[in-house]
Amino acid sequence: MTSPVAKAVIPAAGLGTRFLPATKAQPKEMLPLVDKPAIQYVVEEAVRAGIRDILIITGRNKRSLEDHFDRSFELEFYLEKAGKHDELKEVRAIAEMADIHYIRQGEPKGLGHAVSVARDHVGDAPFAVLLGDDIMAERVHALEDMLAAYERLGRSVIALKPVQPAEVGSYGCVRPEAVEPRVVKVLDIVEKPSPEEAPSNLAVIGRYVFTPSIFGALERVQPGRGGEIQLTDAIGLLLEEGVYGQIFEGGRYDTGNKLDYLRATVELALERPDLGPELRRFLDDLLGRGGGTGES
Ligand code: G1P
Repeated sequence: MTSPVAKAVIPAAGLGTRFLPATKAQPKEMLPLVDKPAIQYVVEEAVRAGIRDILIITGRNKRSLEDHFDRSFELEFYLEKAGKHDELKEVRAIAEMADIHYIRQGEPKGLGHAVSVARDHVGDAPFAVLLGDDIMAERVHALEDMLAAYERLGRSVIALKPVQPAEVGSYGCVRPEAVEPRVVKVLDIVEKPSPEEAPSNLAVIGRYVFTPSIFGALERVQPGRGGEIQLTDAIGLLLEEGVYGQIFEGGRYDTGNKLDYLRATVELALERPDLGPELRRFLDDLLGRGGGTGES
């Protein structure tokens, strides 16, 4: 069965100020998690969910991102000559996994503005948005579940995760009404509320499936928090049409955040058959020797 959602948009124009100095001269989306740049995990997630048409919203300083998903004839030539067939296959596969398009945001006017520049490419069809900073573990099947919910409900679907009250101020936060197991109707949404203002502890994480009405809503919103065009405010206008939330408990990393980046690196490496067993022994050894707190 083909999903009606054929296109994905990945906003990747942010400056990466939370990860300086590593992001001074390279895009944060190119920081590696184990041996792959973060953005490759996001593209692979879209491809796994059956989406091959991907638009990446970039900005200045992001050229290495385009190079990463392009053919690299020189590298391929030398790998072939050296008989490194596995590496050659891997490098070629990156350039072939999807049809990737790029558009520059121009000015950093906020996440909502970044999504709005995708309008001509997306056209009058539902589409997915995957934030380049957020990595979802493969086992969670986040986008697949959201596409299935979109097909059942015919309305926009956003990904949600329960967070500690002290953390709500880092996220969009919703007032939910239970609908199905792990699916809620969104009754209200607020960008980065204080713990007192927060309508619940359900936070928006970086996966969205939108009806094309989001573009009209983005046109209507005024600059919001931080003077930026907020995607959350446009979702607020979409509530009239109906917006659902799909709840995920774990398996999400915000790689723009240093501690989460370390967590993601360790967890993803532990899951790898080629690295996991030895890394686990190393960690046990390190913590067992009193090199750490020993707490998880
Ligand atoms: C953005 C959104 C926010 C969402 C978050 C998820 O915030 O504005 O609503 O909860 O992504 O990662 P940012 O992290 O870009 O500040």
